[in-house]
Amino acid sequence: MLVAPSILSADFGNLAKEVEDICVLGCDYVHVDVMDGHFVPNLTIGPVVVESVAKSATKPLDIHLMVENNTFFVDLFAPFKPEFISFHIEEEKHPHRLIQKIRNSGIRPALVLNPGTTPKLIEYLIEDVDMVLLMSVNPGFGGQKFIPNVLEKAKELKELCEKRNPKCLIEVDGGVNDKNVKDLKDAGIDIVVAGSYIFKHSDRKAAIESLRV
Ligand code: DX5
Ligand code: ZN
Repeated sequence: MLVAPSILSADFGNLAKEVEDICVLGCDYVHVDVMDGHFVPNLTIGPVVVESVAKSATKPLDIHLMVENNTFFVDLFAPFKPEFISFHIEEEKHPHRLIQKIRNSGIRPALVLNPGTTPKLIEYLIEDVDMVLLMSVNPGFGGQKFIPNVLEKAKELKELCEKRNPKCLIEVDGGVNDKNVKDLKDAGIDIVVAGSYIFKHSDRKAAIESLRV
């Protein structure tokens, strides 16, 4: 299992140090949650902060957009060369076009599904993306409770990926901890995002290791 700590649960007063810390402790990606106060009822960070996160990080960035105007935000963040930019299918009229735009910027495109969204909606987009992110909480906040039906959805998505794009990675985000990570592995998940579990743990290295099932 690959591990992407979400910096939403980091101490923002010491953000550079927090980002350096999780990279040294051996995470695989640094998950960056961008919220615009419209698509979700929370507001996080913009390009000034993401630029400084990119400078502190020694692992690739995984940028998760939770915004209304995806194209605008892709233009803002592409210069920082993240590994992935993911956007919500619920908020994009022209997802195929946006996937091409992200790809043409040299970034790996990814789609995100809210807890209530079916993977069938992205059947004809899967071959064009490198990753699908399944939300296991409603987007907007860290520290929420894991919604277990994501396990069933992951299996359905895995079948679609096997049919259309076997290399497509599957990521799960929200409420992940050492108790549910084994079930996620069994359901075919490649990457877990974990915010509060890692950042609030008294031993962050042990927390990251406990997710490597
Ligand atoms: C929620 C964010 C998550 C969040 C996860 O909208 O996308 O990345 O930070 O936090 P935890 O792991 O605490 O649920
Ligand atoms: Zn996220």
